[in-house]
Amino acid sequence: MAVSIKSEREIELMRESCRLLGIVHKELEDKIRPGMTTHEIDVMGDTLIRKLGCIPNFKNYNGYPASVCVSVNDEVVHGIPSRKRYLQEGDIVSLDAGLIYKGYHSDAARTHGVGEISAEAKKLIEVTRQSFFEGIKMAKAGNYLYDISNAIDAYVSQFGYGIVRELVGHGIGTSLHEDPQIPNFAQRRKGLKLQAGMTLAIEPMINMGRADVLWCDDDWTVVSQDGSLSAHYENTVLITEGEPEILTLY
Ligand code: MF3
Ligand code: CO
Repeated sequence: MAVSIKSEREIELMRESCRLLGIVHKELEDKIRPGMTTHEIDVMGDTLIRKLGCIPNFKNYNGYPASVCVSVNDEVVHGIPSRKRYLQEGDIVSLDAGLIYKGYHSDAARTHGVGEISAEAKKLIEVTRQSFFEGIKMAKAGNYLYDISNAIDAYVSQFGYGIVRELVGHGIGTSLHEDPQIPNFAQRRKGLKLQAGMTLAIEPMINMGRADVLWCDDDWTVVSQDGSLSAHYENTVLITEGEPEILTLY
């Protein structure tokens, strides 16, 4: 499938979809407390998305049963919210959510600390977040897709963390997942040439230990194989001739 270039009208719809998702993430962040269940987070996210007049795009996506992916500690992504899973002080929790506004998808993820967390956990979350910003320094028309991948890898590798390879970023628009795939680790080739009007979900997933991951028996939850903490940071970004626009920031 070819990479779609959005028209000015489509870009406006993407901007609004992403702006609303930024609000959802902000509200969820403000509500995280020790003692709440991961299911409660999903209910809050689902309710808010619908209150904003949008549709949660993860719900029933390939059978995924919730509207917010909630991944705790060694869970990398796609954790399934549960009424039995209580957040505890010191946990880290990754929230991944998306929505559809007038047919246009947005997608973003953040990792938060629950109450006070260790200095090591804080550093993992901050390096993961910063790796996104290092990546998008390269995200402008005329550069190549894998300039982004290489920049993320070069930054993260200094810290000795494991960059997850099995899951990647992606184009986004009238579908949640469009071409191209965007690896977060170094590539030998250049990849396609970036053009203004591309909208990309860039989403480094970083393990404190080794990069290897496993799929759990629920067929969704991805965990680090060595049990180390994992963080995720994702925004939907618009490529322009100049600086990229980060559409899902609050
Ligand atoms: N942000 C996730 C991704 O790009 C979306 C998860 S899809 C779901 O892979 F099915 F798990 F919801
Ligand atoms: Co995504």
